[in-house]
Amino acid sequence: MSLKVQAWDAYWENNSSLNSFTFDYSSSDGPYRKVNEFWLNAFAKFTSSDTIVDLGAGNGALAHLFLQSQTHQHISKWINIDSAKAIDLIKHPVVVYQQDDMCKLSLPDDSVDHFVSMFGIEYADFSKVFPHLHRCMRGGGNFHFILHHENSVISNQSRVTINVIEQIFASRLFHELTKFSNLEKLKSHLLSNLNHQLNSVAKNAEDDVKIIGQRIYNIIQLPTDLNAKVEMISALKKDMYWHLERLQQQLLAAQQVNSIEKHLQKHNFMEYSLKSITYQSDILGWSLTGTSV
Ligand SMILES: C[S@@+](CC[C@H](N)C(=O)[O-])C[C@H]1O[C@@H](n2cnc3c(N)ncnc32)[C@H](O)[C@@H]1O
Repeated sequence: MSLKVQAWDAYWENNSSLNSFTFDYSSSDGPYRKVNEFWLNAFAKFTSSDTIVDLGAGNGALAHLFLQSQTHQHISKWINIDSAKAIDLIKHPVVVYQQDDMCKLSLPDDSVDHFVSMFGIEYADFSKVFPHLHRCMRGGGNFHFILHHENSVISNQSRVTINVIEQIFASRLFHELTKFSNLEKLKSHLLSNLNHQLNSVAKNAEDDVKIIGQRIYNIIQLPTDLNAKVEMISALKKDMYWHLERLQQQLLAAQQVNSIEKHLQKHNFMEYSLKSITYQSDILGWSLTGTSV
């Protein structure tokens, strides 16, 4: 299995959250009100006979938002597609989960009325996904996507966190932890190293170090023996490795969006609108809506 898929398997398995970000998609104020408005507009276009397909759906945050929304209408089917092993948290008769690679999408031709995706489709190779969008979408069907932007607050934060994780991996923090003969020595090694990291990163990266530090501190404080603590710290290191992998994928995904118009035009999606979503002076992402003719 590819690193790409494994990184998300690890995420969805270990997080009971519906989405891959810490914000609430149903937020009616602050920056993510814009995201909420976008989706409510999209949902208002769905009709009772429609099949909706969410690409890169994860645990199903969008289906959840749809089912909760006030504009909620009846639809025929909502299919959550993800290549990773998502957890089917949404239990509803119209919602199904399908583990599938959107680059080899196994849905029938002309079977989809609306493709939706929230920070999902751009994680896959557009040159492989777009032929399936074209093949599966019914004439007059619509697509509604929120996509990563290279200069968004999310991408900027990813760059900061990537630097912190890489710096920690290059340090001695996690090196040879089994050599410590007692808890006090392990604790002193971890805390002095974390302190050093905190003093050597830029101001905007301090919170990232503190979050990692807090997780290590919580392990140290547990009433378990030395071996159990070393094992838990190894698990934390693995978790950070997957986090790093996902953040690197996020930046590549955002970069790929710069080429999306070329793919739209190549597959005859000529009626579309691509706009950046901003809040005050911050970029949150791109919105892309369009129709298949
Ligand atoms: C940033 S997460 C977004 C998840 C969800 N849309 C949300 O808003 O929380 C990106 C998702 O795309 C999925 N993904 C990446 N490449 C894929 C592919 N080729 N086919 C299907 N899913 C893919 C990943 O497994 C991951 O769950």
